[in-house]
Amino acid sequence: MNKKIKDILKKKNKSKIVCLTAYSKSLAKILDKYCDIVLVGDSMANVLYGHNNTHKITLENIIQHSSSVRKGVNKSMLVVDMPKGTYNNLKSAERNVKSVIKKTGCDAVKLESNNNNFKIIKKLVKKKINVMGHIGYTPQFKKKFKIEGQTKAGIEKLYKEARLIEEAGAFAIVLECISPNAAKKITKGLKIPTIGIGSSNNCDGQILVTDDMLGMSGFYPKFVKKYVNLNRIIEKAVKKYTRDVKLNKFPTIKNFLNG
Ligand code: KIV
Repeated sequence: MNKKIKDILKKKNKSKIVCLTAYSKSLAKILDKYCDIVLVGDSMANVLYGHNNTHKITLENIIQHSSSVRKGVNKSMLVVDMPKGTYNNLKSAERNVKSVIKKTGCDAVKLESNNNNFKIIKKLVKKKINVMGHIGYTPQFKKKFKIEGQTKAGIEKLYKEARLIEEAGAFAIVLECISPNAAKKITKGLKIPTIGIGSSNNCDGQILVTDDMLGMSGFYPKFVKKYVNLNRIIEKAVKKYTRDVKLNKFPTIKNFLNG
C-alpha cells in the first residue's frame, strides 16, 4: 500500500484529515504545505468555467488542471475527480482512470456513487488504483439538492451505501451534505476515513472548495466558512491600478526596464 494512503488511514480516530480543492499550481503550492489531501474537483465546472452544474467537465479539462496542480503538490495526496460519464462501465472506467493517472501522476481518483457502481470501484482497486468514494449529494447523479439521512431509513440507506463502497476497497469516502446523525453512524461504522462537506464535524476530516472559503466564488451556503473576502481585496487592487494607469502614476521610473 502506498505510504500516503497508509498515513491517511492512520489518522482515523487520531487526528482530523485536512482537504481542500485546487485547479492550478499556484494555489496547490500553498495548500500542499497544510493539507493531507488536495482534490482536483469537478467543481471547477462552476468555479472556473461558469457552468450551472458539473456535467460538462471533460476528461481533457480534468487532465489539464490536474497536471498543473501536480506541479505544486509534493507532500499531500493528490486526488482527481473523474468527470461525469467517464466511468459508466467497467471498460471505460478502467481506460479513463488509467489515462488520468498516466497523464497527471495523481495518487488516487474520486468516483461519485450512484448506489450501483460498487463493482467499478472493486475492479479499479483490484488493478491497484486508489479510489475515494463520494456519497450524499452527488452532483453528477442528483438533479435536486437535498440534505440526505434525515430519517432512520435515510440513515440506513446511506450507511449501507458507504459500507458497500468500503467493501469494494475505497480508501476514504466523501460525505456531502448528509445529516450529522448519518455522518456519525457512517464514521463510527467504517474503518476507512470519512471526509465531510456540509455534513457536520462527525467526520474524520473536512473538505471545502477553496474558492468558496477564500470568498472568491460567490457561492456561500451555510456550510461554507468564508475565511477571507478575496473578491473585495482583489477589487481594491484592481481599482488602485485603474486609477494609477489613468492618472499616469503607473508605470513609474521604478518599473522601467532600462530606466
Ligand atoms: O468537485 C469537488 O470539488 C468535490 C468536493 C466538493 C468534495 O467533489
